[in-house]
Amino acid sequence: HDAHPMGMLVSSVGALSTFYTEAKHIFDQELRKKQTYRLIAKMPTLAGFAYRHSIGMPYSYPDNDLSYTGNFLNMMFKMTELKYKPNPVIEKAFDVLFILHADHEQNCSTSAMRGVGSSHVDPYCAVAAAAAALYGPLHGGANEAVLRMLMEIGSKDKVPEFIKKVKEGQGKLMGFGHRVYKNYDPRAKIIKQIADNVFQVTGRNPLLDIALELERIALEDDYFIKRKLYPNVDFYSGLIYQSMGLPMDMFPVLFAIPRTSGWVAQWEEMLLDSEQKIARPRQIYQGAAKRDFVPIDKRRPVSPLL
Ligand SMILES: CC(C)(COP(=O)(O)OP(=O)(O)OC[C@H]1O[C@@H](n2cnc3c(N)ncnc32)[C@H](O)[C@@H]1OP(=O)(O)O)[C@@H](O)C(=O)NCCC(=O)NCCS
Repeated sequence: HDAHPMGMLVSSVGALSTFYTEAKHIFDQELRKKQTYRLIAKMPTLAGFAYRHSIGMPYSYPDNDLSYTGNFLNMMFKMTELKYKPNPVIEKAFDVLFILHADHEQNCSTSAMRGVGSSHVDPYCAVAAAAAALYGPLHGGANEAVLRMLMEIGSKDKVPEFIKKVKEGQGKLMGFGHRVYKNYDPRAKIIKQIADNVFQVTGRNPLLDIALELERIALEDDYFIKRKLYPNVDFYSGLIYQSMGLPMDMFPVLFAIPRTSGWVAQWEEMLLDSEQKIARPRQIYQGAAKRDFVPIDKRRPVSPLL
C-alpha cells in the first residue's frame, strides 16, 4: 500500500503489453487504433486503481454512463453510493486540465516515447518508458515543488524575503520560467481561472494568497521582467489538485493520463514517417586518450564480499 502510485502506473501499463500480445503488430493500422483506444481508456483506470490501492480502498470500476473525466472521478472518489455523480465544476476543471496537458512538443517524456518507440516495441512498453520519464521531479514534479515552496514560505508577509533570496541565487521561484515560453504561459492563464471555480466548491486553498502575492511581486520585479520569467502551467495546478484532496504523489499520475494521447499521437506520427530510423544519437568521445592502469598481477587483493 505504500508504493508510489506513479510506480504502480509505470509498471502496470508496461504489464498490459503481456495481456495484449497483438499490440506488437504496430504497422497494422486497425490494431494500432485498438491499442490507442485501449491506452487512452485504461490509463485513468490504472491511475484510479493505483490511488485506491494506496489509500487501502476497494477499487471502483469504470462507469460507461459517465464522461471521460466524470468516470475518472468515479474511479477515484466513489464511496458507498450506488451511482456516482461527479460535481460538474470539478468534472469541467479536469476536462480543461486534461486538455491543457495532452501534448507539448518534444518534452522529455515525449522524446522517451519516440526514442523507445523507434525500436518498434509495442506501445504499452513505450508508454511505460514515457511515464517513467514523467515520474522524474524535473518533468512531472514541478507542481509538487510549487506546493512545497508555498508551504515553506508559510505566509503572505514572508513573500518579499523569499523573493530576495531567489534574486540572490538561493533557489528558484518554482512554477516560474519555461524553456520555450518567454511570456505568460497561456496554459497558466486558463488554469488560474479554473482555480477560482474549483475553490468555490472545495473552499479556498490557503496557499493561494501566498501564490497570488508571489506572482504580483515577481511580475513587477526587474529581475523577473529582464529574464522573461512568468508563471508556467505548474504554478496553479498543484493548488487545484490539493484543494480537491489529492495527495502530491498523485500529481504526476494526473499528468500521465491526458499526456497519453499526446504520446500515442507522437508515436504514430513517428512510425508513419518514412525517413524514421531507430533513435541512435551519435557520441563524440572527449575523454582521456590514454589512461594509466595497474596490471592485474600487481593489484592489491580485496576480501571477497560476504
Ligand atoms: C523551466 C526552467 C528550467 C527553464 O529554464 P531556462 O529557460 O533554461 O532558463 P535559464 O536556466 O537559462 O535561466 C535564465 C535566467 O533566469 C533565471 N531563472 C530561470 N528560472 C528561474 C526561476 N524559476 N526562478 C528564479 N530565477 C530563474 C536563471 O537563474 C538565469 O539567470 P541568470 O541569467 O542570472 O543566470 C527554469 O525557468 C526553472 O527551473 N523554473 C522553475 C521550475 C519549473 O517551474 N519547472 C516547470 C517548467 S514547465
